[in-house]
Formats: sequence, structure tokens, C-alpha cells
Amino acid sequence: MKVLVIGGAGYIGSHVVKEMMKAGHQVTVFDNLSSGLRENIFPENEFIYGNILIPNDLDEAFARGFDGFVHLAAFKAVGESMEHPEKYSVNNITGTLNIMNAAVKHNCLRMIFSSSAAIFGMPAYLPIDEDHPKNPMNYYGFTKLEIEEFMEWYDRIKNMRFAALRYFNAAGYDPDGQIKGLERNPQNLLPRVMETAVGMRKQLCVFGTDYETRDGTCIRDYIHVTDLARAHVMALDYIAKNDVSVKLNLGTEKGTTVKELIEAARRITGKPIPAKDDARRAGDPASLYATSKKAKELLGWEPQFSDVDTLVSTTWNVYKGLDKS
Ligand code: UD1
Repeated sequence: MKVLVIGGAGYIGSHVVKEMMKAGHQVTVFDNLSSGLRENIFPENEFIYGNILIPNDLDEAFARGFDGFVHLAAFKAVGESMEHPEKYSVNNITGTLNIMNAAVKHNCLRMIFSSSAAIFGMPAYLPIDEDHPKNPMNYYGFTKLEIEEFMEWYDRIKNMRFAALRYFNAAGYDPDGQIKGLERNPQNLLPRVMETAVGMRKQLCVFGTDYETRDGTCIRDYIHVTDLARAHVMALDYIAKNDVSVKLNLGTEKGTTVKELIEAARRITGKPIPAKDDARRAGDPASLYATSKKAKELLGWEPQFSDVDTLVSTTWNVYKGLDKS
């Protein structure tokens, strides 16, 4: 298929592009390089430098004719979304509606969307399945949930078929070592652990050590970015073959604590990684992990790279070049 990947120069986007190409799709990347990186674009990809807030950029892109598209062009910092909701309204909501309208205009009616575990909010039970109540606790999560509802309406009215892929905690890097672009100013745990390992940060702050978990720190479901990327490819095939839309949780059903991740990183990197116990971060649930039974049943998807050692070692492969010690 001819596939447009919007946000394809980003961290997750570049891994999606790679897996799409491996599956034989012809991929065009659309990105404004605000957080995406030119080095993440493969030489064999057509590249459109464009902005999702400029409808004409999208109009020209979709006019080239695609069988489907993946949308990953969003802001994703939970804390920032609570300080500057306007940025998230404009980029995540208006930007997505611009994309959907351009896609419909040019009859590109298969959409794969990066949704998030953040749509669920505080867990009512674990593991979180697709039917779990949706009560986002931050504005970022709210934007993702809204977009899931827009997609349902466009499905009903315009026959736009979609897959909403709710990522739990995306982590890791391309196991082949081909994708090496580092996120600027990362907010997530594993990149910060790595920044501490190479001396870019003096120490890591552990946000909360008094949670009701096995070691007092938060449990999250870390899922390798290549496993996520493979799910995009499978989801596109699935919605195309079956002419249906789906919403799927993507996780491993296994939780890892903050301390366990730090310990694994110390073992694998051989670095001390100083860590200091710090206050809880507002809005953090103690435990969050998914069941991906539905993704397994419908797509035949199983995580292959999401064990803690592979998550850490593939990330270290990218960061170790920065080590000054
Ligand atoms: C959040 C969202 C997730 C979203 C992701 C995007 C929720 C519940 N989850 O994940 O859906 O896709 O952001 O960025 O809204 N931690 C530290 N020290 C640090 C950084 C993190 O201790 O310096 C801890 C956090 O408190 C948390 C865990 O590490 O317990 C993971 O944090 P993070 O990587 O920021 O992801 P989430 O907040 O779980």
C-alpha cells in the first residue's frame, strides 16, 4: 500500500516507517521537524516538509494519493498539557481534524492513530482492557480520547476506518541500531535514566517511593517501540482486509517498577546511575498495565522485544556514544 506517515521523523514515527517498509509498503513521511529529526528519515522515503496546522500543506500531501495514513504528530508531555492546554488544543485537536478533513477530501479512508493509556486515567482494575472506563486525568489524555470520538463519527459518516492504538509506556530503540535520533528534552523515565548514565544529568529523581507496590515505586507497562511499530503495520492490514475499525491496548501485561528499571540499567550499562528519592509527581497512578489480549486475537500481535533487558540495552546502544566518563 501507499502509506503517509504524519510525524514519521519522530521517535515512534521513524520506527513505524521502518516496519512499514519491511512489510513492503511504500512510505511517504510528512513532518515539520519540530520534534522530529531529519536524521530519522530514511534515504528511500519520500519526505514532505509540512505542518498539520496549515490545511494547504495537508491538502497537497493527500493529493498525491494514499491507501492509508498513520498519524503520530502530537505533543505528548503530560505536565505541559496541564499548564498550556491551548497548545494541546491547537496541535493535537485542531491539527488532527485538519488531517482527517484532508484525508476525507482525497478519499484516503484508513487511519492508524497513536492513542494512549492516558485516556483511562486512574485504574479501576488491572490489567486495563479496552472496555475500562475512560476518565483522563490530564489534558493530553483528554485530547487523545476526543480524537477517538472524532474518528468514530468519521467512520459512521464518511466510512473512514481507523485503528486507535493505545500505547502504554513506549520505550527502547531499533534493535538493528539503524534509528539513533535522540528526543530533545525527554520527559520519560528511560531516556532520563540514560542521560544520568552518561553524565548529562547528575542524578535521577525517583518520583514517589511510598506507593503500594512491591518496592514503593510506580509500576508501568514498558513496551518496545519496535513492537508498537509492528502493531501499526498489522492494524493497517487488519482494517483494510476486514473493512472495520478497532481500538486496541498495546502493552505487555507485565509491570516494571521505577527501581527495577534503574537496577536493570545499572547492570546493563555498568554505570552507577545515582538516584534520589523524591516527592510523588501529581497525577501518577501507582500501577498501570494493559492486557493486549484483543490485539493478540485480532491482529496476531505479540510483543517480541519488550523484556526489560532488551528495552534497556537497545536504548543504551544509542546513548552510550554520549558517555563522557
Ligand atoms: C505518561 C502517560 C502515557 C503517555 C506518556 C507520554 C499517563 C498515566 N501516562 O506516561 O500515557 O503516553 O506519558 O509521555 O498519563 N519517573 C521518575 N523520574 C523521572 C521520570 C519519570 O521517577 O525523571 C517515573 C514516573 O513518576 C512514572 C514512571 O517513571 O512512575 C514513568 O514515567 P513517564 O516515563 O513519564 O511515563 P508515564 O507518566 O507513565
